[in-house]
Amino acid sequence: MILEENYTLSNGIDIPKLGLGTWFISNETVGQAVKDAAEIGYRHIDTAQAYSNESGVGDGIRACGVKREDMFVTTKLAAETKSYKEAVASIDSSLKTMGLDYIDMMIIHSPQPWTKFRGEDSYFEGNRDAWKALEEAYKAGKLRAIGLSNFEKADIDNILESYSVKPMVNQILAHISNTPKELIQYTQEKGILVEAYSPVGHGELLKNGELADMAKKYGVSVPRLCIRYTLQLDLLPLPKTANPDHMKDNADVDFVISEEDMELLKNMERIKDYGEASVFPVYQ
Ligand SMILES: NC(=O)c1ccc[n+]([C@@H]2O[C@H](COP(=O)([O-])OP(=O)(O)OC[C@H]3O[C@@H](n4cnc5c(N)ncnc54)[C@H](OP(=O)(O)O)[C@@H]3O)[C@@H](O)[C@H]2O)c1
Repeated sequence: MILEENYTLSNGIDIPKLGLGTWFISNETVGQAVKDAAEIGYRHIDTAQAYSNESGVGDGIRACGVKREDMFVTTKLAAETKSYKEAVASIDSSLKTMGLDYIDMMIIHSPQPWTKFRGEDSYFEGNRDAWKALEEAYKAGKLRAIGLSNFEKADIDNILESYSVKPMVNQILAHISNTPKELIQYTQEKGILVEAYSPVGHGELLKNGELADMAKKYGVSVPRLCIRYTLQLDLLPLPKTANPDHMKDNADVDFVISEEDMELLKNMERIKDYGEASVFPVYQ
């Protein structure tokens, strides 16, 4: 049962193999979503400063009835925070907003601020500065793990050239039809766990007829097929939903996709329009 399984991060800490995404869940409703998820058996929640729902997530974690040490919560340092001083303040601000004594993992949301995403400036120095602040918070016990998100090879190398604490994860866009094989392989070879965000293609994969046919063949829903696909690539999926029925469905992934079908899924035509997410540079 996937909800009882963990990956082990490079620092020896266990991280539940399935996480609940919370992007686009409001601060008012996310606490209930966390409680419902915990009741179903989820032990891993993914939020970010940029989602404006950290306080609701913190309320949910504290009120869900599961021991704090049995829950794993990740938040993300805002993409625009690229100085040491700002990063130190920002980490403390997340702890305060969430009302938690420690956060299980904090990751740099993006190597560049969103308005400069994948632009000419790599922000190498700013990322090293932000990383230093995360390392210090990690060593002080405020964070149990630290990592990256949306980092490409050069961005990862920039951190690996000068770290005192090695990044434990890189959270990237990875789903059926959009699987960055080389980046995944490179990251995994470095001993960094790859987390798959938008595993259901921000909902767009639900519209794909070919996928619906394959899901039918396995007797599963399209989201289950999508989530199982990422797990078979040793990724950690973070499907988003506030709907308890969908949460249960997404955790029912004890089936196996054949090698042949995995190849078909890896090479499926890429999504061109991610709906409401398309206003964000990462989806363009
Ligand atoms: N690091 C980053 O830059 C970054 C970027 C994007 C996302 N993320 C993280 O990854 C998480 C997931 O990505 P995402 O929010 O873009 O989208 P996603 O999880 O790929 O897809 C979410 C969509 O799928 C639907 N869905 C999920 N399970 C379903 C089910 N069993 N049956 C029917 N529909 C289902 C949801 O509908 P309902 O809500 O109606 O269930 C929603 O419309 C985010 O919430 C966030 O935590 C990180």
